[in-house]
Amino acid sequence: MNEFIERNIGLMILLTVLAVSFGGIVEIVPLMSQKVVTEPIEGLEPLTPLQLEGRDIYIREGCTVCHSQMIRPLRAEVERYGHYSVAGELVYDHPFVFGSKRTGPDLARVGGLYSDDWHRAHLLDPRSVVPGSIMPSYPWLFDTPVNVEDLPKKLATLQKLGVPYTDDDIANAAQGLEGATEADAMIAYLQQLGILIKERR
Ligand code: HEC
Repeated sequence: MNEFIERNIGLMILLTVLAVSFGGIVEIVPLMSQKVVTEPIEGLEPLTPLQLEGRDIYIREGCTVCHSQMIRPLRAEVERYGHYSVAGELVYDHPFVFGSKRTGPDLARVGGLYSDDWHRAHLLDPRSVVPGSIMPSYPWLFDTPVNVEDLPKKLATLQKLGVPYTDDDIANAAQGLEGATEADAMIAYLQQLGILIKERR
């Protein structure tokens, strides 16, 4: 039987694909119905419009290229970055920004670690607060106003994906954001990262 399969490469490919998909399905499908991965942790709120805009700028600027947002349940990671990431704190994240490259530190729990002023100085010129940093400067964030026009549409899309924005939230998404810069949005986003599970270095 073995020999027969090994001599029929088409059949072998088919059976290999079947075996691998079965393994995947057995691992993945039960997760979809498990509360621990589908239910938000206590206190989780959808991002405010300003934070959401910050998240989009984070993606646009490619911060994910150098920063992960995923603390693995390993001692070295937990000691450095704080409590490992749990699925329930990420259920409103669409798309995920886990990243996979750590040229810089993981940012999953960077919220509250530094002051807004520190972030401002760091984004404007990382070397002004961390000598020898190789992080790029992002000066344009400081003179670009946030694009409020698209915010209602963004919130509405996320609402369709199950993020609990109310219709009022959507209608008022742009309110109070006159004069806010992209740097304000970025800092608002960074300052809430991972703060619901406070344990951190
Ligand atoms: C080329 C790689 C690179 C890119 C791109 C990058 N960073 Fe960094 N980042 C680093 C490095 C290296 C450090 C560590 C040195 C430092 O603090 O400046 C760092 C540090 C940080 C820290 C401090 C983290 C801590 O725990 O001390 C924050 C916050 C941060 N980056 C945010 C951002 C944001 C927001 C963006 C996108 C706008 C970004 N980074 C893009 C490399 C990068």
